[in-house]
Amino acid sequence: MVSRAEQFQNMVKHLSQVSPAIVRTEEQLTAASPFRQQFHLEPKSGFLNDPNGLSYFNGQYHLFYQWTPLAFKDNPKIWHHGWYHLASKDLVHWQDLGPGIESDCQWDKHGTYSGSAIPVGERLFLIYTGNTWTNTQSLDDWRRLPYQVGAWMDRKNVITKLKQPLITDSFPDCTGHFRDPKIWEHQGDYYAVLGAQRQNLTGTAKLIKTQGHDLTKWEKFGEIQTHEPHFGYMWECPDYFELNGQGVLLFSPQGLLPQGEKYQNIYQTGCLIGQPLDYQSLEFEHGAFQELDAGFDFYATQTFQTPDQRRIMYGWFGISEIEYPTVKYHYSGCLTIPRELSVKHDHLYQQPARELQALRGQATMIDQSVSELTKLPLAKQAAQEFDLQVDLHDCQQLILDLRANADDSQYTRLIIDQAQQVCRLSRKRSGISFAEEYGQTRSRHFKFGKQLHLQILVDTSSVEIFLQDGAVVFSARIFPAAEQTRTFVASHGGSAKINGTVWNLKGGAACLDS
Ligand code: FRU
Repeated sequence: MVSRAEQFQNMVKHLSQVSPAIVRTEEQLTAASPFRQQFHLEPKSGFLNDPNGLSYFNGQYHLFYQWTPLAFKDNPKIWHHGWYHLASKDLVHWQDLGPGIESDCQWDKHGTYSGSAIPVGERLFLIYTGNTWTNTQSLDDWRRLPYQVGAWMDRKNVITKLKQPLITDSFPDCTGHFRDPKIWEHQGDYYAVLGAQRQNLTGTAKLIKTQGHDLTKWEKFGEIQTHEPHFGYMWECPDYFELNGQGVLLFSPQGLLPQGEKYQNIYQTGCLIGQPLDYQSLEFEHGAFQELDAGFDFYATQTFQTPDQRRIMYGWFGISEIEYPTVKYHYSGCLTIPRELSVKHDHLYQQPARELQALRGQATMIDQSVSELTKLPLAKQAAQEFDLQVDLHDCQQLILDLRANADDSQYTRLIIDQAQQVCRLSRKRSGISFAEEYGQTRSRHFKFGKQLHLQILVDTSSVEIFLQDGAVVFSARIFPAAEQTRTFVASHGGSAKINGTVWNLKGGAACLDS
């Protein structure tokens, strides 16, 4: 077996060492994929995971993502894990600014991991975890040594790393799993929350802090005191913010076991909502953990505030360890649409960011009774948005088949079960199967009575379903055949009524201008 040390020695360490012709060939292979999304952000090739550095600075939104170029090419095998940079004026049309932060200094030599950004004066401050492994020569003594690294971006989008790391090791009561700083300002000082693993192998969230606007001298501040001391073995990508008067701690715990319909994916993302954090005691009084997405592919979220103070969240529309069918075209991963958050009655709601309405093209109005076994063909195009009010009347179940073929034998099925007050999403017949070992249906019970509001965004290879104004959300990557562009609705055990609008969504090249 080739040791990890040997593997590392044989790898190309920087993208600049790879011939541009090889990069181009990879991008051409990716561009030929039939699964390229119309209005979701995806890598030109290679592997995308977490959204990073979300911010509004210098009149533009900035968005970075974790990027591993050439991740699916064996020769050359490249060791690079950095941030890719995009900018936008409207959260819809993005300018491609290329690699943003590369793993090229001693503090991040084994990976520029996740982190965040905040405007400070005339510059954007970036903070991320530099991943290093000690002793790459020996397989037996290979430990993680995380550094928290700072950088400034100027108004020309030039990023300069600080020479010294901000924090040089983990907390003494934690292992080397200590990463993903999310920064915010509170009363003139800056705090960052990081995901960590305690020495007893449980997950938690730690705080670091700096006083004033210099941002070079940081200290370890403490641990957020939650009521979840034994909740998975590691918390990744934590985020803390206050919304509608409440404190929200958002994070991606690893190691939760499935519990009924909850925690069905390999890893989870969710939040604790409660009183605003007490900055003296670090006590956080909160209610039960709320899983953010009832679907399949959703992880490693990050939020930021728009200039008009809305809280927007992006997630990685994927999960580690799943091989998506796009790998055949040497790329994997995309980001979810931006979602606007709000807290009502101690519950986190997510709705598509209103900016996405700019994608709406031709509209079809729907005002239709659906009776038993009636199938109702709706508009035909892959990229669509549905905004529908469903009156379940006396029907037991309403079935909505998205991205269906002509005879409705292939589809992504949403079942709204009035009798049981449960919604189920099935991708058994969506198209190319993948990740079947983790189950092909997901369900969520919640009280919707007879009236259900649905907002659904469908793209070439995904669906995002927002139920009851975003109280419950199902997200799923799907890989249907190109001809699966139809939608059918049927009711069982009685009739229902649906009305609303279906839009064809514009997208494609308009979304990413290089
Ligand atoms: C989450 C994560 C982060 C880490 C990054 C590395 O998906 O594991 O904890 O910073 O990915 O790419």
